[in-house]
Amino acid sequence: MKKSTYRASTDVALIKYWGKRDEKLRLPENNSISMILDGLETVTTVEFRNDLAQDRVRIAGEARAVEAQRVTRQLDRIREIAGVAWYAQVESVNSFPKGTGLSSSGSGFAALTCAAADALDLNLTERELSILARQASGTACRCVCGGFVEWHAGDSSGTSYAETIFPADHWAIHDVVAVVDEGMKRVSSTEGHQTAQSSPFYTTRQAHIGDKIATMKRAIAARDFTSFGELVEAEALEFHTILLTSQPPLIAWYPGTVEVMLAVQQMRQDNIEAYFTINTGFNVHVLTLPHYVAAVAERLQKLSLVQKTLQASIGGKPQKTDAHLF
Ligand code: PMV
Repeated sequence: MKKSTYRASTDVALIKYWGKRDEKLRLPENNSISMILDGLETVTTVEFRNDLAQDRVRIAGEARAVEAQRVTRQLDRIREIAGVAWYAQVESVNSFPKGTGLSSSGSGFAALTCAAADALDLNLTERELSILARQASGTACRCVCGGFVEWHAGDSSGTSYAETIFPADHWAIHDVVAVVDEGMKRVSSTEGHQTAQSSPFYTTRQAHIGDKIATMKRAIAARDFTSFGELVEAEALEFHTILLTSQPPLIAWYPGTVEVMLAVQQMRQDNIEAYFTINTGFNVHVLTLPHYVAAVAERLQKLSLVQKTLQASIGGKPQKTDAHLF
């Protein structure tokens, strides 16, 4: 049967998705905006076979039950659309550490959804792929698109999807990722979303999130890096305030995370314009313009708690490739 391989990039959320109004369908409480990251990617090969008694899933060379179950649930949705019962062999590799706050589930489930749909010749539109990917991982619904992406929260499965709001060539923003640890984070985003509403500040966040989305779109449209960066950083700190004040509190940062945050503020004092953002992990995205990338990377690499840096530019939508993993 047909084998399909897709390469999908992860993204970095500029205005974050936090909290769900529907757990099962993964409908978010609010719209979110992200930027696709060329350079931080997952490659996944899928082949449906009539000689398997169950799905055979290997991620980074390992067969882990919890991850495999989530993959099987997504394959079930795709099998249902195609009306087939075949099990699949799935291999997936990441170019960056997974489970550390760099949204590996976003690129992972985007690549899986595209490859599995293609392997069954489903010919889905980008919107249909986004709706499908969303049910496996919220972030993944943005990662089937390219450039700057907005996920419309919607109020039903059919109205909750992402789309490109500005293409990748609109603005050359770069991301220098400071890796302070490669071990897995202690609390997954999936668990974290469930406690979002317990923060006393969550309603305040929701009251002004629409304005933030609009301001972010204006900053991107105008290529106004200072407004963009200040909003990205303020949003990251507001998001972590929600995490810190939820029950139970979610302290995502490591000492190295704080070292990077302070170093980024110092960079701006020294006229290197860069801004940080952090998801539910401890590794830090540092966003900057092309002419500051070398200086930002050099400063980050000198920090005592930074193990390494990764670099990404703004990227496009998932690409099909013939470089199959098996
Ligand atoms: O898609 P999930 O369940 O991994 O949640 C992602 C949550 C954040 O990364 C914190 C924010 C976002 O919009 O990506």
